[in-house]
Amino acid sequence: MKLSVFPSSIETSRALILRLVEIMNEEPDRVFNIAVSGGNTPVLMFDLWANEYMEITPWDRMRIYWVDERCVPPDDSDSNYGMMRNLLLGITPILYENVFRIRGEAKPAKEAVRYSELVRQQVPFKRGWPEFDIILLGAGDDGHTSSIFPGQEDLLTSNSIYVVSAHPRNGQKRIAMTGYPIQNARYVIFLITGKIKPM
Ligand code: 6PG
Repeated sequence: MKLSVFPSSIETSRALILRLVEIMNEEPDRVFNIAVSGGNTPVLMFDLWANEYMEITPWDRMRIYWVDERCVPPDDSDSNYGMMRNLLLGITPILYENVFRIRGEAKPAKEAVRYSELVRQQVPFKRGWPEFDIILLGAGDDGHTSSIFPGQEDLLTSNSIYVVSAHPRNGQKRIAMTGYPIQNARYVIFLITGKIKPM
C-alpha cells in the first residue's frame, strides 16, 4: 500500500487526476474499466477534472461504473451518478454507452442483481471475480467505504458483486459493491480529504 499526502484538498484531487491519467497512459492500448464512488469528496476532483484536465484525459478508453449508489432517481441531489454527470461526464466526449450507471430509482434488490449481472458481462473475470482496472473509493467519517457501514461487515464477504445496504442513520437504501471485487481490482485508490476522516 502506498500513502500519498498533500497539503490541501485541491492538491490531493489534482494529484489523483494526474495519477489516473498516468496509469492509463502506461497502457495506451487498454480500455480501462473504472468504478467510482460518490459522496462529497469527489465533487472537487470531478470539477477540476472537467476544468483543467479535459485535453490530456483519454476519454475514449474509459468505461465508467459505480462502486455504490444511493437509491434515489438520477436527478436527486443525493445521486452519485447525477453528481458526476453534472460535473464531469456530461461535458466530456465520453460515449453514453461507456457509462454504466446504477439505477437508483429501481427496486433495490432487483437492481443489485441486474447491476451485478451487467458487471459480470462487461468486466473481465479473474480469480472468480470481475477485475476492474481502477476502483476509486472514499471513506465516511465512521470509517465506511463503498456503502458498507460499521455493523454491516458481513456484506464485505458476500458472494454477490453488489448488495443492498442501508444508511444506519437515515435508512436510505444503497446499492454497494462488496469486498471481494474491490480487492480484486488492479488499482484500488482511496481519495480522502478533510480533517475528521479515518486513516
Ligand atoms: C457514497 C459514497 C461513499 C463515500 C463515503 C464518503 O455514496 O456516500 O460512495 O462510499 O465515499 O461515504 O463520503 P463523503 O465524501 O461524502 O464524506
